Amino acid sequence: MKGIILAGGRATRLYPMTLSISKQILPIYDKPMIYYPISILMLANIRDILIVSTPLHINIFKNLLGNGEAFGLNFTYKVQNEPKGLADAFLIGEDFIGKENVALILGDNIIYGSNLRNILNNAVNKIEKEKGAIIFSYHVKNPKDYGIVELEDNENIISLQEKPINPKSSLAVIGLYLYDNDVIKIAKTVKPSKRGELEITSVNQKYLDLKKLSVIGLNDDFAWFDAGSCNNICEASSFVKSIITRSNFQIACLEEIAFLNGWIDKNILKSSIKKLESAEYGNYLKRYL
Ligand code: DAU
Repeated sequence: MKGIILAGGRATRLYPMTLSISKQILPIYDKPMIYYPISILMLANIRDILIVSTPLHINIFKNLLGNGEAFGLNFTYKVQNEPKGLADAFLIGEDFIGKENVALILGDNIIYGSNLRNILNNAVNKIEKEKGAIIFSYHVKNPKDYGIVELEDNENIISLQEKPINPKSSLAVIGLYLYDNDVIKIAKTVKPSKRGELEITSVNQKYLDLKKLSVIGLNDDFAWFDAGSCNNICEASSFVKSIITRSNFQIACLEEIAFLNGWIDKNILKSSIKKLESAEYGNYLKRYL
C-alpha cells in the first residue's frame, strides 16, 4: 500500500503564524507537525509516501525530509496549485499510486494509542485482501466541525455528513483513510461541494453506496488531534510533552520507528544522531547505539 500526506491548504485559521510558513511545519512540542502523520504511515508499514503541498511550501518539506532514506522511506513530492479539496489527492497522486491501494492522511492529524500498530496493520491487510475502504472514527464534543459517521449497532454505517449543522452523531471521521485502487476512478467522479471543494466525504459516500465502506472506532484508549487551530496545537503539544517527559518514550520519532522496524542500520542512525544530538530528540536516539 502507498501513502499520501496532504500538507497544503491555506491555514487561514492560524494567521499570522501561517502567513509565510506551512501549518504542517509548525511544532507540536518538539518536532514538526508532519512527523506525526508520517509516523502513522510508518506504523502501518507504508514506506512509499507522496507529500503534497503548495507551490510556496513544497521546498520546506523537501529540505526537512529529503528523499526519506534517513527514515527508511521513499518520499515523492507534488504540488497542489490550489486547495481544491481532500479528494484532489487522488487526482494529483494518480501516477504515484499506480495500481496499488492507498492510505491518505491529513498533515495536521495526530493519532496516539498503544495498540495503533496492530489496528493499522490489520486494516491495511483487510484492504489488500478484500478491497473496499476503511475510515476511522473518534467521539468528539464538537461534531459540527468534522465529517461525521452515523452507526447502527455500533458497527454498520447508516450515513455520512460533512460539517453538518445538525449532526446525526458525535462520531467524527478522523483524517486517515484507507482505499483500494478504485479510489482514483471514484475521485474523478466527485463534483465540487457547495463550499467549492472536492470532499473526501463524497468519496466515502460512493464507497458506502457500493456497500464497501467500513469503520474502525478508536475509543478513549486513543488520543486524536486535528491540529488546525491554535487551541488544538497547544493541546496536542501539551499532550505530547506530558507523554514524553513522564514515560521517557518518544512519540513520532521517525528514526526510532525506522530502526526498530529494521528499515535503517546503525550507520544511518549514527549520522542522524550526529546531526540532531544537541536536541533532546537526537540525544534520545543514542539509546539504540
Ligand atoms: O481532521 C479531520 C477532518 O478533516 C474530517 O473530519 C473532515 O471530514 C475533513 O473534511 C477534514 O476537515 P478539515 O476542515 O479539518 O479539513 P481542512 O480543510 O482543514 O484540511 C485538512 C488538511 O488537508 C490540512 O492540513 C490542509 C490540507 N489540505 C486541505 C485542502 C482542502 C490540502 O493539502 N489541500 C486541500 O485542498
